[in-house]
Amino acid sequence: MLATAVPAHVPTDRVVDFDIFNPPGIETDYFAAWTALLDGPGLVWTTANGGHWIGARGDIVRQLWADADRLSSECLAVTPGLGEVMQFIPLQSDGPAHKAFRTPVVKGFASRFITALEPGVEAAARELIAGLRDRGECDFVTDFAEILPLNIFLNLIDVPLEDRPRLRQLGVQLTRPDGSITVEGLKQAADDYLWPFIEQRMREPGDDLFSRILALPVGDRPWSVDEAQRMCRNLLFGGLDTVAAMVGMVALHLARHPGDQRLLRENSDLIPAAADELMRRYPTVAVSRNAVVDVEVDGITIRTGDLVYLPSVLHNLDPACFASPEEVHFDRGLTPVRHTTMGVGAHRCVGAGLARMEVIVFLQEWLAGMPEISLSPTRAVTMKGGNVGACTSIPLVWDAKLAP
Ligand code: HEM
Repeated sequence: MLATAVPAHVPTDRVVDFDIFNPPGIETDYFAAWTALLDGPGLVWTTANGGHWIGARGDIVRQLWADADRLSSECLAVTPGLGEVMQFIPLQSDGPAHKAFRTPVVKGFASRFITALEPGVEAAARELIAGLRDRGECDFVTDFAEILPLNIFLNLIDVPLEDRPRLRQLGVQLTRPDGSITVEGLKQAADDYLWPFIEQRMREPGDDLFSRILALPVGDRPWSVDEAQRMCRNLLFGGLDTVAAMVGMVALHLARHPGDQRLLRENSDLIPAAADELMRRYPTVAVSRNAVVDVEVDGITIRTGDLVYLPSVLHNLDPACFASPEEVHFDRGLTPVRHTTMGVGAHRCVGAGLARMEVIVFLQEWLAGMPEISLSPTRAVTMKGGNVGACTSIPLVWDAKLAP
């Protein structure tokens, strides 16, 4: 962690030393590590990681996140160099350019396509569950959560599941880099994997996701090759780590709450609402923005150029925004709840419908195909921080003799 001098425009009572990649206690409880910030002011400046603001109250996180006119998305992340390397489309664009890129991407994720994808997702989940059921134990992260989104991505772009090991390697390096590959190397490996499909889909469109999006114009012109690569890279990296993290949190909740497993198994009609509520309760994505003008908020001036970090956990788990936010109430999901797990405003997740479907299918297939799960009494759950927080290990056990 690199601690820096505090700029003159930052009041001293707003200064904290909070490393977003490694807040105290993150390895055992991502949510407690973050919500500790809710006890302080609504906007704080951390000296860690080069120095940046953190939205530390629900209403402020949401307000700044939605303020795409004054806060740019170009920077991507606090991590130096990451934004310059990844150059994601549409994530790292602003204003009219963003709208022109986002429109075809949103159309590519239209709900009829997501519905059509569902049988493939069910089959992928069932295949994984069938391989686990008789084992009586697994590490849910490596044995399920990290694999399902890969299978789904392969379905989305309509390529054989045999490609999974190659893509899995990328997914693992993205989620838990072991230093064997640089960010540039990772970007290059993703491009090398994706390029043959992009090239073919641009030449000869099929009915897969890339073909659908690339067949639509950007404003009034076709996609350039560079833009197509940046967009496909965004979709690849956007959907792997995030879904893996979310499905992991949902499994952890089930393992800790056997009553909820029984309730949902006996009342599968509750599953869609349960998925919404679990996605609210376990948000682990945070975004970064750069102020393009001075922004007044919470009695403070965010100066032009300042970096602002906005964690959805501090909105969704702020008791001023959601009553008893740490409690899971499946009927909470029955009324529209404006949480920020999938973002808010111009950049709200284009894969939100797909992600929701994946969580629903996971719950349906897992509860139908597995006996009651619990956490291993001997091995610990571990978590990590970052722009997408996640469990790194969820050791599960069950009685294989009770498998349905
Ligand atoms: C539970 C899983 C997911 C979570 C929690 C999640 C979260 C988010 C969030 C918070 C944003 C807003 C980013 C910002 O404001 O800067 C976002 C944007 C985005 N997500 Fe997701 N996401 C998930 C799944 C997916 C999937 C499955 C895909 C595609 C395969 C995807 C692709 C994208 C893209 C392309 C954007 C950029 C949208 C834009 O800039 O207009 N995400 N996501």
